[in-house]
Amino acid sequence: MSKKIAIVYSFHTHKSKRIAEKVIEGWGEPKLEPVNAEELTKEMIEKYDYFIMSAPTWFDGELPNYWDEFVPDLEEMDLKNKKFAIFGLGDQKGYSENFVDAIGILAEILEECGGTIIGHTPVEGYTFEASRAQRGDNFIGLPLDQENQARMTNNRLKAWIEQLKKEF
Ligand SMILES: Cc1cc2nc3c(=O)[nH]c(=O)nc-3n(C[C@H](O)[C@H](O)[C@H](O)COP(=O)(O)O)c2cc1C
Repeated sequence: MSKKIAIVYSFHTHKSKRIAEKVIEGWGEPKLEPVNAEELTKEMIEKYDYFIMSAPTWFDGELPNYWDEFVPDLEEMDLKNKKFAIFGLGDQKGYSENFVDAIGILAEILEECGGTIIGHTPVEGYTFEASRAQRGDNFIGLPLDQENQARMTNNRLKAWIEQLKKEF
């Protein structure tokens, strides 16, 4: 049986939406199922066991505000047996002290509820001061930096997709 995997991102952002569409295209069959992060419900999270989540960092190290409403609901959920992979846009030059913090913030919430985070990637190749997404020599997800390293995005996505297909 093939796994049903949801890809959760804001349908109203430009950059994150484009990246999510690249993930969907790169993934191929069976197709990932798009879910709008702005309209997340408990039922949506209950419906799937596997998730790819988009978490761009806003406001100097915070989750985008469209997460505000759903996070309290999410924090009450039991996410045991569910697997999450997180990618996030960030800017390692402009926000070096808070580089892709949102990936780390979301990962912490999901782990607190019993979820498993897959798709960790090496910090090598990025230059930054601090990140809540860092765990030792790895990030807990995949940072993408369209401001400073846009040319690396396609290869990073390709490698990550291959990795996720093994880890889900
Ligand atoms: C006001 C503002 C604050 C930001 N804060 C951070 C930050 O703290 N850390 C980071 O890595 N990137 C930060 N960024 C960069 C964004 O994450 C980056 O521009 C990303 O492409 C936004 O994706 P989106 O437009 O799809 O939401 C910030 C950008 C803006 C405009």
